[in-house]
Amino acid sequence: MALFSKELGIDLGTLFIRVVEGDQVVLEEPTVAAIVVQEQKMVAWGQEAHDMYGRVPESLEVTRPLMNGVIADYEVTEYMLEALLRRLSGPMRIFRPRVMITHPYGVTSVESRAVHEASLQAGSREAILISQPLAAAIGVDLPIGTPSGNMLLCLGGGTTQAAVIAMYGIVAAETLRAGGMALDEAIVSYVRKKYGLIIGQLTAEQIKIRIGAAVPQDEEQTIEVQGQDQVSGLPRPVSLTTGEVVEALREPLADIVETARRVLEKTPPELVSDIIDRGIAITGGGALLRGIDKLLTKELGVPAYLVDNPTTCTAEGAARGLTILPLIRRNLITIDGR
Ligand SMILES: Nc1ncnc2c1ncn2[C@@H]1O[C@H](COP(=O)(O)OP(=O)(O)OP(=O)(O)O)[C@@H](O)[C@H]1O
Ligand SMILES: [Mg+2]
Repeated sequence: MALFSKELGIDLGTLFIRVVEGDQVVLEEPTVAAIVVQEQKMVAWGQEAHDMYGRVPESLEVTRPLMNGVIADYEVTEYMLEALLRRLSGPMRIFRPRVMITHPYGVTSVESRAVHEASLQAGSREAILISQPLAAAIGVDLPIGTPSGNMLLCLGGGTTQAAVIAMYGIVAAETLRAGGMALDEAIVSYVRKKYGLIIGQLTAEQIKIRIGAAVPQDEEQTIEVQGQDQVSGLPRPVSLTTGEVVEALREPLADIVETARRVLEKTPPELVSDIIDRGIAITGGGALLRGIDKLLTKELGVPAYLVDNPTTCTAEGAARGLTILPLIRRNLITIDGR
């Protein structure tokens, strides 16, 4: 039976679920579900559910089942994984896939067990867990099988994970339970304080992506968005510049820098010298923020660089992890000896 069943790498992220089979990305959907409130039944998921945000009657709820990288709503996560596996492997349960699925570094045993259980309940034949920094390191082809120091900074939507990896295992790492969404929130609060205007979080994310940066840019860009006046409640436009976004992001970016700094401090000196030679690989959607490499290089005194496949590398590494299981197994979380 195993001959017919698929082997999938699944990156279960706060904002996106990505699935890789072999070296192909076969699915990428927002981690969002639309639920009928009364029956707790899922009627849509992924992009289809995301498109319903703020546009549904009271009988429906559009929700994110993951929060800061971990499962917040177990049932909805299971429904989503089930729908995803059905789409990829067809309805016949005999072709149940074997999956390697990611979790943030440093989760509790309850949190990792939830990922394992949900994967099996959703229809996997076998579910093997891998931490996101390790999967990302495999996905970007860092030489982690050698006794040399490799450092990554994974900037997700709900988490920031800094890790140093050698001999296929984590030497030092830390997870901050805040990521790109915290940057969006900082923009919301900046606009409220400076202009007395309320903007939505999705608008804030658009501002960040279109004109945002981690450090001042030579070329200032501007964007006009609509907000709601804090006092009158009426709609009002506001124009923002790149410089203002840099200012708004200063504090949450400082938290990210501090997370990387603490991990560097915990790293043995021999490995630090490798990291200084090789640089810090930046992965995750947050790696796409303009100037994030410059900010990290300047603040940490270690060169930091953006990888080629920042958003998909974690799922790619999970899929490849299945093919090198004997090498990495001792460094994976096991559940009940499985
Ligand atoms: N061009 C861009 N500039 C800045 N941020 C961006 C850009 N593109 C995407 N992002 C941000 O990347 C984040 C999503 O990254 P990613 O898909 O890696 O998250 P995730 O894997 O779902 O979350 P996590 O790993 O924390 O659970 C969002 O906060 C998004 O706003
Ligand atoms: Mg992620």
